[in-house]
Formats: sequence, structure tokens, C-alpha cells
Amino acid sequence: MRVTRVFVLLIFALTISVVNAQLPEIVRNGNAYQLTVNGKPFLMRAGELGNSAASTAEWLRTKVWKQLQEANINTALVPIYWDLLEPEENKFDFTLVDSVITGARKHNMKVVFLWFGAWKNSMSCYAPSWVKRNTQRFPRTEDKNGRKQEILSPYSSENLKADKKAFTTLMSHIKSYDKSQTVIMIQVENEIAMLPDARDYSKTATQVWKSTVPTTLTEYLRQHCNTLTPHVKQYWSGKVSGTWSELFGDDEYSEEIFTAWSFAVYANEIAKAGRSVYKLPMYVNCALNRPNRKPGEYPAGGPLPHLIDIWKAAAPDIQMLSPDIYFGDFKKWTESYHRDDNPFFIPEHQYDATAGAKALYTFGEYHGLGFSPFAVETKQANFTPPVLGVTIDVEAEKQKHSKSVTIPSAYNIVRCIEKEIVAANGTNRMRAVLLDSLHQADTLAIGGYQIIARHDNLLGWTPQSKQSGWSTNSVIIICTDKDQFLVAGTGVVLTFKTMTPDKTSAGILRIEDIATDGSGRVLRILNGDENHQGRHVRITDGEWGIQRFSLYEY
Ligand code: DGJ
Repeated sequence: MRVTRVFVLLIFALTISVVNAQLPEIVRNGNAYQLTVNGKPFLMRAGELGNSAASTAEWLRTKVWKQLQEANINTALVPIYWDLLEPEENKFDFTLVDSVITGARKHNMKVVFLWFGAWKNSMSCYAPSWVKRNTQRFPRTEDKNGRKQEILSPYSSENLKADKKAFTTLMSHIKSYDKSQTVIMIQVENEIAMLPDARDYSKTATQVWKSTVPTTLTEYLRQHCNTLTPHVKQYWSGKVSGTWSELFGDDEYSEEIFTAWSFAVYANEIAKAGRSVYKLPMYVNCALNRPNRKPGEYPAGGPLPHLIDIWKAAAPDIQMLSPDIYFGDFKKWTESYHRDDNPFFIPEHQYDATAGAKALYTFGEYHGLGFSPFAVETKQANFTPPVLGVTIDVEAEKQKHSKSVTIPSAYNIVRCIEKEIVAANGTNRMRAVLLDSLHQADTLAIGGYQIIARHDNLLGWTPQSKQSGWSTNSVIIICTDKDQFLVAGTGVVLTFKTMTPDKTSAGILRIEDIATDGSGRVLRILNGDENHQGRHVRITDGEWGIQRFSLYEY
């Protein structure tokens, strides 16, 4: 009897350790992707630290972890600076790496390390001084006038070798130090891109530009010719052999394709080498292109929407290409990265009042792996930034959002309904809406009903609906069973229509107001004025709530 019990316990312990040994990975799940950690789906309620915040252990200890915890963040995106990691060639200092891992662990947080290696926002400012000073051994890119840039050339094997050595040494250290998988993912470099021209004009680069386009790229183009982005379709001549200009032309956009390929091949080498040491998921992030600027005027050749095909062809060892969103129409950008061949993650977003709603939308509509505002150890900006091309009253916006620190509230909601989000991931049972002054309403088909979602301001019932400038609001809607739904978020009113041919209408049977403390208990049954005498389901503007409701048709 006793022996049997010991045996069972042993098997149990072994099973647990096998599960624990499972490395984080990105897996396909239905029509989406999931990040799994210790074998279980993990939603990254993430936040990226400001660039200098991880440069001393003291700053990390005193200015970071508590702030992140208070924002309900469960994953910190933290830079690793090459110059501080390898101040002298082959002499590594892991103090900061270890301090991040222990600090995060203590605060029950996961870490995504950002490798600020050869490039950070195009520049090579994080290269150690022994690299920076030796331009002979570690060549730079040059502009059209032959002026050297503080940008390491992607065409140098010495640059790649040194960067790769530092990166693989880092990965090997993480592997041995981080036995409990605090580190769950790695970003390779940061916002890789070329400035001030569309390509490097050094002698070496020009030689490569004049050489034959690799068959890996032409083969990819041939195989994906029906799904290529319009930009690549437009620039590719359709030829499968020849030089870069023979295949893609010779304006700055042609050169940008060449740059994208060169950077992507380099980044893939780094990722592949890192994963061969310790197989964590890896991604690259992208500085987006401002409208009406040409490549080189904007950082060129990164994994931009119009160059995703080139990056996918060159970088099979990089699992995700992800946009950093600081301007423009959120949905316009996200739609480009929400592709069947690309797990969805927003690694940087301006830490403003719209971030909370966009985080919900990322999880609910794109079934994303996570969302991460930038500089989260600082105070969240309390205004909605202007949308390009639209005149808004910035002062009124600031006023309106003076109490609007949305990330902690949004992340709390995600934490409360995590089980439901995970269960609906990759299915058509989960959707979300993102509403503001420009997009005031949306219609979804879900669970056999048509759901019309309107910004709460359209009711005109709250004082804020009388002011100019609307908050950016979002709800996630999940169909949990037949006629049963969960809605969670802020500032949206739902009405319903039947989709069944022999019925004319849809009605509400019951609405439960659920506690947002994670207990799941029912606080109230919402009726009368709260559901407009049976007409709608509503979460008021400025409040963050969770409601369960059931519908019927008649
Ligand atoms: C995007 C970069 O990736 C970040 O490191 C930071 O520089 C922000 N831009 C802007 O502060």
C-alpha cells in the first residue's frame, strides 16, 4: 500500500517536472496562435520599460517592479544592452540580467528580453566601445555621399560574428540561470532599419546590390505569388533570376526591398543561433513608416507592412513580426500584421489613454499573444493623442481623460476573464470592438446573433458625451454557450438582432453584473434602467465591467 503511494507520488512529481521542462513556445490553436508557458496558454499583459530603466540594479529595484505590479502587468519587456553585457570583448557581465530575472520572479512576473545588440532604432548606439572604435574590423554603413553612419553594416561577417557571440552567450546564461522559466521570449535587436537612405551605399553593400538575388527569395515569391502584399507584387518584375535591380527596379523602394532582405537574413542568423542554444520564441519589432515619407526619410527596410513577405522569406527562425504603434490608425496597422503566417503581438504602444481599450481589442479581436505599452514604469499619459488628419481639441481631450489610467483597469479585466479568453482563443466565439469618435459603432455576428455595439456616448446620457473628444472604448464579447454571452470592457452599449429566418427579434433574458475582483461572484442582476427596460446591455463610459447575459429569439 505504502509502496504504491510512493510510486504514485513519484510518477506525479515526474509528470510535473516534465511539464515544467516544456519550454515556452508559440503554438497554432484553431485559427489563431497561443503562447504556452510550462505547457499552459499564457496571455502577456505586458509592459515595456523605458530604455534606460534596466541599466542599474538599483533603478530596477526601486523604480520598476512595484510600478509594474500596480498596473496589473504580468510580463515585463526589458532591454539587455550589449555594451553593458560585454564591456570588453569576451568578458561578460551578467549582473543586470540576473537582477532582472530575480526581481521579476520576486514580483511574480515573466520577462521578455529585448536584445539591444547591433541595432536599436536603426542606430548601433548599444554596440560596446571596442566595437564602435574599431570601424576597420566592424564596418559601418555609408550614405550616398560616402559618410559613415553610427550603423553597423549588415554585410559584414565580423559584425554578425560579434553580435551573434554576445547573443548566444546571453542565451546560454539565461538557460543555466533561469531554471523556472521567468524569461519566456526574446526580441532580436530593436526596430532594425536603415537611415538616412534606403540602402547602405558602402562599397561592399553596392557589390551585394549588384549581385544575383538569392533563390530562397525568388522561390518564396514564386510560391506565394497569389498572396504577396500589393507593394511587393508591384515591385517584383515576375523574373526569378537576375540582379536586385533587374528583379525589383532601381528606385528607393527597390533598394528598400534589398535592405529588408539583408537585415532579415542577418536577424535570422542571430535568432537561429540563439534558438540553437536555448529555444525560446523570438520576434522582431518594427518602427512604422510615417505617411508621405520615402524610405530613408522613414527608417527603411524593417518588417514594415509592405515588406512582411520579404522578412517571412528570409527569416523562418523568427516566429513573429510585430508593429510598434505610436501614431496613425490602430486598426490600419494591426490588420497588416494579423496574418495567418504571423502570430499577433503588439510589443510597443504609446502609453496613453487609448492603450487599455487597444489591449482588450488585441486579446478579443486578434486573439493576440499580448499587448505592451512603452515606458510603463512611468505615469500613463492621460490623454488621447490626435488621430492623423483629424482636428481635435487636445485640451478637451486632456480634461476628459484626466482620470483615465486605462492599462491597470484593462489588464485587470483580462486577468478576471482569462479562463474564458483562453477557452475561446482560435474560435469564432470571441470578438471585440474598438470604438472612438471616428468609429462610433460596429456590428458583429457571434453565437448566432447579430450584435450591434455602439460607443456609450451615442446614448447621450453621460456628462462626458456632451464634451468634445471621445474616449477610446472597447469590449470583448465571448459566446460561452448557446444563447449565453460574456461582455467585458468599457463604454459600449450592445443591442441584438436575430439571424434565424423564421424569427423577427432578439431579446434579453438576464444580465448579471460580475465582480471585477477575480472572484467571479454576481454583484447584481441588471434590469430596469440598467438595461433600458430590456433593450440593451451596457457598460458605461469610464467604468470597467464584466457582465454575463443570455438572449432569446422570438
Ligand atoms: C520605439 C523604440 O523601440 C523604443 O525603444 C523607444 O525608443 C520608443 N520608440 C520611443 O520612446
